Amino acid sequence: MQESSDQSIDQRKTPKIWVLTLFPNHFKEFISTGVIGRLFSDKSVEIECLYLGDFSPKSFKGVDGTPYGGGPGMVMRADVLKACLDEVINLGGYKNPKEDLEVIYTAPRGKVFNNNDAHELKEKFIERERDLVFICGRYEGIDERFIESYVDQIYSIGDFVLSGGELAVQCIIDSLCRFLPSALGNDQSAAQDSFEDGLIEGPIYTKPRDFEGKEVPKELLSGNHKLIKSYNEAKKVEYTKKYRPDLYNEYRKTKS
Ligand code: ADE
Repeated sequence: MQESSDQSIDQRKTPKIWVLTLFPNHFKEFISTGVIGRLFSDKSVEIECLYLGDFSPKSFKGVDGTPYGGGPGMVMRADVLKACLDEVINLGGYKNPKEDLEVIYTAPRGKVFNNNDAHELKEKFIERERDLVFICGRYEGIDERFIESYVDQIYSIGDFVLSGGELAVQCIIDSLCRFLPSALGNDQSAAQDSFEDGLIEGPIYTKPRDFEGKEVPKELLSGNHKLIKSYNEAKKVEYTKKYRPDLYNEYRKTKS
């Protein structure tokens, strides 16, 4: 076991994400690849995955049980999850775990995660109020008593069912870490992302200028920055109307 650090959350330099999972391998590629991988390797943000199988009681040797009252599948045990969370508190040296940690579980019943949630989490996490703990469910889910006692927020990534929470957790971590200053290629790219102004991004183009007879729009080749800006703005509105009429209706309300 690692020695616990004595730092409080305020002194801690690097934001830290803990992942409690039965499949730590699921995170290997994720934390070592692309923009997100760079953030972890240059220590802009830390991540530590704990294997839930290491926290099963000796008398039992396992992480799950059959559901009381019957029903299909298996349920992840609250005592195993709690033992793993205690290890997070110990390793991280959190003095006030309720305040220092935001414990997030992902499940289809959760609030569907969106850009506003990503911003809220960013404020809590990157702007250093709290470190994050993600619980990855498997089987039928986790014992409700653990959720009642220790989970702060449940998120879903959409109205469909995954076989486990690992992918959902990676989606959330990815969207969040993109806000880190060191993740951005230039200062503007996060602000220009889809959803930031209630609109999705318009079309983008690169070389060749002619692809199978289709030319890049002439406005983008004009060199006239004002024209390019107004073209891009109009396209954002047009594309939002076409691809996300729900967002477009909201956008129109804010404009009227
Ligand atoms: N776990 C299983 N399905 C899920 C979903 N849709 N979103 C988040 N976590 C899940």
